[in-house]
Amino acid sequence: MEKLRLGVLASGRGSNLQSIMDAADGGRVDAVVAVVVSDKAGAFALERARRAGIPALHVSPEAFPSGEDYELAIVEILQKHGVGLVCLAGYMRIVGGRMLETFPYRVMNIHPSLLPAFPGLHGQQQAFDYGVKYSGCTVHFVDAGMDTGPIILQAVVPVLDDDTADTLAARILEQEHRIYPEAIGLFARGRLEIEGRKVYLRGEK
Ligand code: GRF
Repeated sequence: MEKLRLGVLASGRGSNLQSIMDAADGGRVDAVVAVVVSDKAGAFALERARRAGIPALHVSPEAFPSGEDYELAIVEILQKHGVGLVCLAGYMRIVGGRMLETFPYRVMNIHPSLLPAFPGLHGQQQAFDYGVKYSGCTVHFVDAGMDTGPIILQAVVPVLDDDTADTLAARILEQEHRIYPEAIGLFARGRLEIEGRKVYLRGEK
């Protein structure tokens, strides 16, 4: 059977992209990264993809008359590359209706907090400032809201007394690199079943 083809959208350094590429390369995830798209020309994520021989495209939102046109261009790229699952990995834009209709329950995101706590930007800093004792990260399906979609996997990390927001973020990032590929692997094996807001792990199909 043909492997699941991933389209990764990233705006920045791309460490989650790297963890996904490594897991796919190492056979830990039964999928291939088919294409990487960034809204930022200088995103290191694009460089990582190129080094791995993966098509890496910069699509500038400014080149389009509207956000919908920009998103349509991205959707067309993903379709052209036969993408079956879209992975947001540090993609700093809201995904709109066009993408969600084209890829229903086929858009995943990683967020650096235990959702529904601390959605939006700088989840690690928000958790640190709030003074929680535990934080972590969440892989979820994307819906029309901001970090509100059905939760697939979460990992918990402690917040230590001598932490800074940066040391906490580093501890969380380690777990991101573990659970994002794991969630993609589960999806690829058909193990995820969605009922309303709940995502269940089912036996091998
Ligand atoms: C990660 O913290 C991720 O949770 C958030 O954006 C950051 C992206 O980091 N959505 P990287 O580009 O994958 O290194």
